[in-house]
Amino acid sequence: MVLLDDFCLVPLIYQLYNQCHTMAPILNDHSLEFISRSPEQTRRVGARLGQLLQGGEVICLQGGLGAGKTVLCQGIGRGWGVAQPLISPTFVLMRQHRRPSGHQMLIHLDFYRLEDPREADGLGLDDWLGHPDVVSVIEWPERAAAVLPEEHLWIQIDTIGEEQRRLLFTAHGPSYHDMLLAFRQATFGV
Ligand SMILES: Nc1ncnc2c1ncn2[C@@H]1O[C@H](COP(=O)(O)OP(=O)(O)OP(=O)(O)O)[C@@H](O)[C@H]1O
Ligand SMILES: [Mg+2]
Repeated sequence: MVLLDDFCLVPLIYQLYNQCHTMAPILNDHSLEFISRSPEQTRRVGARLGQLLQGGEVICLQGGLGAGKTVLCQGIGRGWGVAQPLISPTFVLMRQHRRPSGHQMLIHLDFYRLEDPREADGLGLDDWLGHPDVVSVIEWPERAAAVLPEEHLWIQIDTIGEEQRRLLFTAHGPSYHDMLLAFRQATFGV
């Protein structure tokens, strides 16, 4: 039998409290939902995801204005290894980021300002999305759904309070399914 003294119990109770208050139910093997309670918590979750990315992933962030897509992407960039904080590509459609070493690239796309989904064709995205040396993170992906590869990770962010956001991750395709399981394990230990 393991005896826990007060010093052990406090962090354990705190951890259990945090888990109960940040996690909503895991829906099924293909999706995961939880509640973030602050921008930094959203960044930390993004960083966990970023650490798992190997190259070739396409991550779609759907949510209304100010939902937290850029905040989540900043975390993804941090976890993946970009040295500078990511800034929103809203006015330029796409920003490219590299790590201090290595040849891979993270591209951060924002389709909010696309007037017509066909404009996305002109960006030459076929060369980028899913390329093994490129991680792609896309805000407002629904505005250019036709250019998205069939397999991707979709993250829907809903504002449910001033600092509360509901994040729903859905894996499309077997590799994203595996990635979501690894993310769940790394983030929640289950
Ligand atoms: N739990 C949270 N997670 C993320 N952002 C939060 C949270 N709580 C509050 N915020 C705030 O919400 C805002 C989210 O801004 P952000 O630029 O990430 O939104 P966005 O979804 O990218 O919007 P846009 O569609 O305009 O690009 C920030 O001001 C952030 O501080
Ligand atoms: Mg944004």
